[in-house]
Amino acid sequence: MKKRIALLPGDGIGPEVLEAAVDVLKSVAEHYQHDFEFEYGLIGGAAIDEAGVPLPEETVAVCQGADAILLGAVGGPKWDQHPSDLRPEKGLLAIRKQLDLFANLRPVKVFESLAEASPLKKEYIKGVDFVIVRELTGGLYFGKPSRQYVNENGEEEAVDTLFYKKSEMERVIREAFRMAKGRKGKVTSVDKANVLESSKLWRKTAGEVAQEFPDVKLEHMLVDNAAMQLIYHPGQFDIVVTENMFGDILSDEASMLTGSLGMLPSASLSSSGLHLYEPVHGSAPDIAGQNVANPLAAILSAAMMLRTSFGLETEAKAVEIAVDQVLQSGKRTKDLAKGGEHCTTKAITGEVKAALADDNAISNIMTAYV
Ligand code: IPM
Ligand code: MN
Repeated sequence: MKKRIALLPGDGIGPEVLEAAVDVLKSVAEHYQHDFEFEYGLIGGAAIDEAGVPLPEETVAVCQGADAILLGAVGGPKWDQHPSDLRPEKGLLAIRKQLDLFANLRPVKVFESLAEASPLKKEYIKGVDFVIVRELTGGLYFGKPSRQYVNENGEEEAVDTLFYKKSEMERVIREAFRMAKGRKGKVTSVDKANVLESSKLWRKTAGEVAQEFPDVKLEHMLVDNAAMQLIYHPGQFDIVVTENMFGDILSDEASMLTGSLGMLPSASLSSSGLHLYEPVHGSAPDIAGQNVANPLAAILSAAMMLRTSFGLETEAKAVEIAVDQVLQSGKRTKDLAKGGEHCTTKAITGEVKAALADDNAISNIMTAYV
């Protein structure tokens, strides 16, 4: 299969973890006889430095000419003092908006071998396997007005706007229901309907979309309660669907169930079929360039790309099994090593590639899966 992949490394550890994912994709291509072409684009602080804007038009063109997009991370203290429009994060928000990447899937799956790495007791997180579906192109991140100003009394004020069209709610909630159908058949819709108007409409819309899916159970949960339930009883969730900001916060919280934010991949789906894949973690400028970052979230994001954009289920599963094999062997990057001996980014990537090359091990486990 011939595919063109746009690569947006970004800032901080972004380039390192993306390189790891590309390395693994090259192994997959070689092993399973595919032809993956890679093309780089600037985004975030790197783009501000080189092109003067966080998302140059060339980058959008590179993405539009590709079959899928893989992104590292954006942001860092270097650009903290920049005006709002010239911040790295704006590049990420702009690409989400321009490519209409409205449904952000963040799977939270606990690898058995990492149960020890979670700060929660093992019995609480055993078998945790759910997906947060985060709305990604609306809400507080994009609503207008959004600005800081001085009022008539000379006092500084600031405003952000939580705005949604019903159609924007519908399409992401529908995506959540579709996914639940192929899984445990349960959708938890998270809102703050006891206070916010946007949440009242969200709740009503979720109820309406649910009518289209009689075999899926819908449950509503207030966001504060959801934050508590994620720690108290994470095993109850299958699909969690929520607006942009709630999803941002809950997914960082949920990552700790897996032991590290460095483990969580994500897929951002568009209406056009051109999807973007990125680790949930940020650019971690404090450890950038040290070859210690955990590349597994980026590698698992590449696996999601193989499955969702290219339909390469066997290859995707092989990458996931390879990651699991490496974790089972006890090898860990620093974030998971709990003070013990740890492997570098490159070493862990090498281990994943080696596991991937071990056809016998992979196919034995693959058979056990089906
Ligand atoms: C994420 C990040 C971004 C977000 C930032 C970098 C703008 O935290 O992808 O979760 O808030 O969406
Ligand atoms: Mn976030």
